[in-house]
Amino acid sequence: MLKRGYKPAPWTGALNCRVSVFLMFLTLMLVFFLVFHNDSDGANPSLAYERPNKKENSFDSLVHLHPTKEFRNGTDLIWQVPESPKGVLFLAHGCDGRALNFWDKSPECPDCIGLPEERLLVLHGLAQGFAVITISSAQRCWTFGKEVLVVKDIIEWWTGRRKLEKLPLVALGASSGGYFVSVLATAMKFSSIVIMIAEGMFEQIDIRGDYPPTLFVHMPKDLYRQQKIDEYVEVLKDRRIDVGVVECMEFPLSPNTLADRIPGLDLPLSRKIFELFQEKGFIDKNGYMKKDGRKIKWKKALEEKKTLVLDNNLVSHVQEELNLAFAYHEMTSLHSDQIFKWFESHRS
Ligand SMILES: *[C@@H]1O[C@H](CO)[C@@H](O)[C@H](O)[C@H]1NC(C)=O
Repeated sequence: MLKRGYKPAPWTGALNCRVSVFLMFLTLMLVFFLVFHNDSDGANPSLAYERPNKKENSFDSLVHLHPTKEFRNGTDLIWQVPESPKGVLFLAHGCDGRALNFWDKSPECPDCIGLPEERLLVLHGLAQGFAVITISSAQRCWTFGKEVLVVKDIIEWWTGRRKLEKLPLVALGASSGGYFVSVLATAMKFSSIVIMIAEGMFEQIDIRGDYPPTLFVHMPKDLYRQQKIDEYVEVLKDRRIDVGVVECMEFPLSPNTLADRIPGLDLPLSRKIFELFQEKGFIDKNGYMKKDGRKIKWKKALEEKKTLVLDNNLVSHVQEELNLAFAYHEMTSLHSDQIFKWFESHRS
């Protein structure tokens, strides 16, 4: 669950920016036109789709969640170490996020929330043999002063205590968490990092030659960030830092999507919500969201439909999947294969 539109600092020359964004937009329209009209089998690798898999919930039989929740340096950390861990993964949420969002509600964590994309990142991490640690930001969003040292302290204290300090350390941060991870990487040694739906703070930090290999996972519909990322990819390449880019595209909803990705939301309800969205024109005839999930009055439409009852605890979960399907700005686990390949191929 992320609030859109978070920007770390006002940019000087915003006007220039707007003009080039407009040009970028025209260029992109042209590119899209060419790609989607000439290449209908979608062979272009940079626009590789990753449709949601069926039944992500099947993880539950592979990974057993037994997280530990602690309080340290004024904040929450929630973590789990699998048998024979081969690395340590720090996950940083976006604005309004919390460590609780990453973990399913369980006897060990009764107030955990388990948002669909966050929980899948944790499950993928554990399944890949990573010890996973999540920490809550002190305020609504991450800050880039003392908080960097606090999180560094927490991670070092925890890896030391669990005897994980010799293992490769990697991090993934989304939105505000992405900016945060880009800065944290100057304060502690990561084997590699993933910056999701954020361009990072590469104008503010000193990028040394030992900056970790950086994978940007982003949504090109967000043209402002797309442009900044293009810029920063070049900046990092100039410093001989290994850089990768994964683009996340929109995908159509199907009657099953919500049930497939949200534990506790059953198929009949998923179908009814889908039909309501068709009826209300929230999705087009192919199932694509016409607008960002935050911009449509889907909750009101649901409340008016007396035959439809969505558990209040699942509202943010549905919201997240709608935002993800629109692919403008949301946490995503759809590219976990590429994310974990990135971690795997940069283990030193
Ligand atoms: C975090 O807590 C430890 C233990 O209380 C303390 O020694 C350390 O200075 C704290 N770190 C920061 C950056 O406040």
